[in-house]
Amino acid sequence: MAKTFYVTTPIYYPSGKLHIGNTYTTVLCDMLRRYKEMRGYDTYYLTGMDEHGKKIETVAEERNLPPSEHVDEIAEQTRALWDRMQISYDDFIRTTEKRHKTVVQKIFEQLLEQGDIYLGTYEGHYCMHCEAFFTESQLGEGATCPDCGRETSKLKEESYFLRLSKYEKQLLKFIEDNPDFITPESRRNEVLEFIRQGLNDLSVSRTTFDWGIKVISNPKHVVYVWIDALSNYLSALGYLTDDDSLYKKYWHGDEVVHVVGKDILRFHAIYWPIMLMALDVPITFRLHAHGFYMMKEGKMSKSKGGVIYPDTLMERYGLDELRYFLLRELPYGGDGVFTPETFVERINYDLANDFGNLLNRTVSMINKYFDGKVTAFSKEGTDYDASLRETCEQTIKEYTENIEELKVAEAIRSVWKLISRTNKYIDETTPWILGKDDSRRAELENVLYHLSESLRFIGVLLRPILLDASESLFRQLGIPQKLRGFDTLEFGTLDAVETVSKPSPLFPRLDVEEEVEKLQRIIRGDDAEESEESDEEKATIEDFVKLDVRVARVVDSKAHPNADKLLVLQVDIGGEQRQIVAGIAKHYDSKELIDKHVAVIANLEPVTLRGEKSEGMLLAGSNDDELEVLTLDGLNPGDKIQ
Ligand code: MSP
Repeated sequence: MAKTFYVTTPIYYPSGKLHIGNTYTTVLCDMLRRYKEMRGYDTYYLTGMDEHGKKIETVAEERNLPPSEHVDEIAEQTRALWDRMQISYDDFIRTTEKRHKTVVQKIFEQLLEQGDIYLGTYEGHYCMHCEAFFTESQLGEGATCPDCGRETSKLKEESYFLRLSKYEKQLLKFIEDNPDFITPESRRNEVLEFIRQGLNDLSVSRTTFDWGIKVISNPKHVVYVWIDALSNYLSALGYLTDDDSLYKKYWHGDEVVHVVGKDILRFHAIYWPIMLMALDVPITFRLHAHGFYMMKEGKMSKSKGGVIYPDTLMERYGLDELRYFLLRELPYGGDGVFTPETFVERINYDLANDFGNLLNRTVSMINKYFDGKVTAFSKEGTDYDASLRETCEQTIKEYTENIEELKVAEAIRSVWKLISRTNKYIDETTPWILGKDDSRRAELENVLYHLSESLRFIGVLLRPILLDASESLFRQLGIPQKLRGFDTLEFGTLDAVETVSKPSPLFPRLDVEEEVEKLQRIIRGDDAEESEESDEEKATIEDFVKLDVRVARVVDSKAHPNADKLLVLQVDIGGEQRQIVAGIAKHYDSKELIDKHVAVIANLEPVTLRGEKSEGMLLAGSNDDELEVLTLDGLNPGDKIQ
């Protein structure tokens, strides 16, 4: 039976658009999955969305949407992004799904019954943004959050706690006994050091908001978002349900890998294993924490160092180019930097020159000298042949070892060493000179055969990384399907090569100056259409006509009882009174709009926002600082806007 491989990404917060930093993990896992598949494993790839918590509730509120609508929309966009990026996931779990919620509730109740979770009171500092409690000693200057630097507030509240302290020694021993459990080693050391300082029990419920999974036995509490989120790795497999066959097969299978960014290492290296120990579920996974993609100016973010999105790069340069850059440029154990210069250079030097040209020259020479067909293979051969063969074999070894250790950039580098060696082989064997001498045809054919065989190795090893280019290589050299597998990588397996009549370049060369400038503009946000809106669909007139936009008179208005940012308006839309909740309280005081004639969308499905019904949407213009409600005082309530 085939060995199993279960790989997971973190589940993403639906708080903003995913940039190349947070799509890195997804591409990495996709690559690992494709590699393992090629090695004959039975694989399962899980990704998804982490949709609960205060932060998400707030983002939805700012958009004037109920959280469920907000998360539905972002989940759909994220899936569409993965589809465009050809991410080969098997399951996309959302923490708002029933299948997940039920499992989290069962886990919580079980731990509660066992006494691993207990009810207590929390007194300390709370960071609203990180949804985390901190002790005095953990706080930054001015009682700020040690993680995000924002102000914290003092809080005393009832909370459930997970007994981390009870499992501290067991966890320490587990990590010490399993040196490969956390990689890279530097991260493992960080975790060990943290545990050795002693673990406080963890607050695992909240009563300050309710966009979360309710604790069944005490529904005024919702489960802490990290306990909720981490459980996805099991809930997606049907753990604690009637059909737990995936759980049995993959969690109890041969290899399980959680890939995460360094900022969420502690949750995965401490809370998650302790939850599993308490649940008596074996810790079968290994944990890999990678570094961050940064911009030259600092962190990747709209407000700090700038930001670059995968769509932008994919649409302008291609999916293979994006995958190659992401996987090649982030060093093992460290951070990587996205700069327009390195991005363009990697495409031109590595992909177009080194790799693309090698294929192009080989196909052209086979066409020129042998009408596209080459068969010979001389076992004796020259020293150059032997050296090339040896590099091919050595490359497989290096590549495999590196990937197994999750040193992906190094694995790619080892393929490029083979590419360089193969280019050098052309210089050494000088086929253009052999081609002038009829008596050396066998020698020439042997050289071209060696080049093709080496390219076949390169194509197979790059299959998990460059999806289109590897296919194109096989097609251009006429390599049959059955010789594209990892298990066929023995030099000399290829019987014959039959090339296409005209080679097509794998990667077009870019104009460095032009593209660097273009990318700089995109990062600065000058090229709005390319950076932000490139993936937004165009609306049609029909879409617009569907909206019933009307003039409405504001009859009354008051502050929302449960939300600072919202006003609750009563409006008259021509003989019919409606209630509309609008996110304008920061810009208008509650009575300011009374008697104004405003524009509202009148045919939206009613929603409830923080307990108040909203039967329409108010139109307003805004930028980062200002917001102005559209008024049409010269028109009458009920008049149509079109
Ligand atoms: N929802 C949690 C994960 C829960 S997993 C049980 C979360 N979500 S996130 O959307 O904020 O981040 C998702 C991943 O993106 C994390 O692994 C994070 O480390 C990663 N990255 C965010 N910015 C990144 C870069 N600039 N570069 C590389 N990875 C980055 O955390």
